[in-house]
Amino acid sequence: MQNIKFDFQNKSVVVTGGASGIGFRISSLFLAAGAKVSIWDYSEDALNKAKTELGQFASQLHTVAVDVSNRASVTQAAASLPWAVDVLVNNAGITRDKSFAKMTPEDWDAVISVNLTGLFNVTKTLLEKFNPSSPNKRIINISSVVALYGNFGQTNYVAAKAGVIGMTKTWGRELGRKGFTVNAIAPGFIRTPMTEAMPKEVLEQMAAKVPLARLGETEDIANAVMFLSTDQASYVNSTVLSVDGGLVV
Ligand SMILES: NC(=O)c1ccc[n+]([C@@H]2O[C@H](COP(=O)([O-])OP(=O)(O)OC[C@H]3O[C@@H](n4cnc5c(N)ncnc54)[C@H](O)[C@@H]3O)[C@@H](O)[C@H]2O)c1
Repeated sequence: MQNIKFDFQNKSVVVTGGASGIGFRISSLFLAAGAKVSIWDYSEDALNKAKTELGQFASQLHTVAVDVSNRASVTQAAASLPWAVDVLVNNAGITRDKSFAKMTPEDWDAVISVNLTGLFNVTKTLLEKFNPSSPNKRIINISSVVALYGNFGQTNYVAAKAGVIGMTKTWGRELGRKGFTVNAIAPGFIRTPMTEAMPKEVLEQMAAKVPLARLGETEDIANAVMFLSTDQASYVNSTVLSVDGGLVV
């Protein structure tokens, strides 16, 4: 895919869950566009792999092992940041899928604490780390299409991702006067290592439900994140951008 040409020199970006999948693509495209990027991720293995793959951008890259659901860990990660922040991408997320009848309180707590409380922890801690003089501060939260229409086996995930949309709209109202825009992206079915591991027939069935008749690529989400991060997107606030090939119409 030919990516849109963005210029993020002199900007610094934090990407949670930035060491793999969608977050890794977001981090790579920001680095290629000249940004300084801090990748926050739980997995040391994924962080090491990302550092190797992004070796050419070493001088622009900062990585930190952090659990976004743990406030002490988030505070430590924030203290290690070498740069003031211009853009925060809240992308870290997990699934623990089961039908509601089979879902355990542990499944509920795990997903809510990473996918919902994690955003609260990271955003609250980083608010004072944003570049105070910038009129173009950006927070982009990764939700999901399932937040808009529910999904079998995902009570915990859907509740968290719908909560992310609620937080986005509230922060957009509260922080707008302070030079922030806050927006959410609702990805549809995106091809990541996670979906690649699914049986081919299941992937084909998923693609068949999409009006564009294909799964999304990580670049599709990364390009949307980058657009919302530009100075030119300064009047887009508190919105949810579906990037799903028209899945939810
Ligand atoms: N893949 C899809 O089709 C799809 C669709 C809609 C929404 N999303 C959302 O996009 C985001 C990225 O998904 P992905 O498919 O790239 O997933 P992924 O599993 O490939 O990547 C998620 C990253 O988050 C990190 N992470 C997990 N828990 C963490 C924690 N507690 N603290 C810090 N980092 C943590 C993981 O180590 C991993 O590197 C998630 O929020 C997901 O819910 C994905």
